[in-house]
Amino acid sequence: MNFLPEVFSINSAMANGELVIGGCKATSLAREFGTPLFVVDEEDFKTRATAWKSALNDNFGANAGQVYYASKSFLSIEIAKWIAETGIGIDVCTGGELAVALAANFPTNRIELHGNNKSEEEISKAIEVGVSKIVIDSMQEIERVNRLAAASGKIQKVLLRITPGVEAHTHEAISTAHEDVKFGFSIASGIAWQAIQEVLSCANLSLEGLHFHIGSQIFESEGFILATTRLIELGAKFRDEFKFELNELDLGGGYGIAYIAGEETYNPSEAMAAIAKLVKSECERHNLNIPKISIEPGRAIVGPTTTTIYEVGTTKDVELDDGRTRRYIAVDGGMSENIRPALYGAEYSAILASRTSMVPAINSRLVGKHCESGDIIIREIDLPSDICPGDLIAVPATGAYGRSMASNYNHMLKPAVIAVINGTARLILRRETESDLLSLDVLEVARTIR
Ligand code: LLP
Repeated sequence: MNFLPEVFSINSAMANGELVIGGCKATSLAREFGTPLFVVDEEDFKTRATAWKSALNDNFGANAGQVYYASKSFLSIEIAKWIAETGIGIDVCTGGELAVALAANFPTNRIELHGNNKSEEEISKAIEVGVSKIVIDSMQEIERVNRLAAASGKIQKVLLRITPGVEAHTHEAISTAHEDVKFGFSIASGIAWQAIQEVLSCANLSLEGLHFHIGSQIFESEGFILATTRLIELGAKFRDEFKFELNELDLGGGYGIAYIAGEETYNPSEAMAAIAKLVKSECERHNLNIPKISIEPGRAIVGPTTTTIYEVGTTKDVELDDGRTRRYIAVDGGMSENIRPALYGAEYSAILASRTSMVPAINSRLVGKHCESGDIIIREIDLPSDICPGDLIAVPATGAYGRSMASNYNHMLKPAVIAVINGTARLILRRETESDLLSLDVLEVARTIR
């Protein structure tokens, strides 16, 4: 497999057979920081975040709402600082994500709180620190947010998460807007309308608008079109009934990125131009003003910026029934820092990153070091037949939902994340240590609890 410029981060290149990211050689990074290693191309990250902001502003001008970076895709204090710097907002969906944003001194008026089962503590904290909006996801939550806002003496701005009944073309586990799903208020069942009425009756809630998120890693626009059309229709019904218009429409995230050859990362300008055309024509059709439009890209900002560097530990050949040979190449990570292939059948690409190889490629399977046959990073890939222990393998486009979904399965240590730019590198999340792991173990004498 050759270096694919469209899949690697912007400042990645091959020089003398070696992968160089942000001016730093993969071999030098591995020596300095160890492997597996997440390498974030800092300039690429900021460029992508800014591109989404510009695309939204260029197409919606004064009516542009906000780009909220979906922090679940990857978050650290440093990342939150980059997001703050670019002027966009952040979407958090747990107390933990909120804590990181606050630790970065992220402007709270650019934080949006999500979640289908927010705890009272999470809601109270969000209200107390003054988040811009809480996206309400259930009937019970309407009462909770209203009560907790009242207790703080505040009027909380809220959006309602609407389920538009759309089948997004992506993996079932990351498709979120069909009817039979845990998220949001369904339009078809009438619950969305009831929720709107309920929020309007709450003295401490201010209904700013509606929200949808149809799913993740989406390339086809039908789902976005249908969901947008249905929410604008609901906005028109709202205006007809209550004689005023909602301020905001939040279209969620989900824009797909390239992982393998032949795929293309969503282009922010094209995506926003298409959405603007649709929003304008639908609003015109219903004689509505154009609301503030917000979006929540996560993967499309961080995904392509990051490459994982692994070291090869072992190889073995297996003769297949069809007469072919499969080479198993095992690296020093696997499903604990990239669960996506096992969970969603996600595909990745990889290259030999530490040297030139002139030998022919062989049908290979890139696997990890976990005690499971399903610990596969790439099911089928052609890699040079002389790959051997000590070689470095780079897997691009691992920025989203890699480190953020990492586990300690097999008591593996979560890898370090470094930022590279202009030939410099720095840690933004250190590698876990065995002491970190052991620090959670407790040897306690039992107490009587009845
Ligand atoms: N907004 C909401 C309300 C969301 O639930 C999500 C993602 C996003 C925005 C951002 O979606 P993105 O632009 O990153 O696609 N672990 C899965 C993805 C789960 C996405 C969950 N929600 C994966 O690895 O593919």
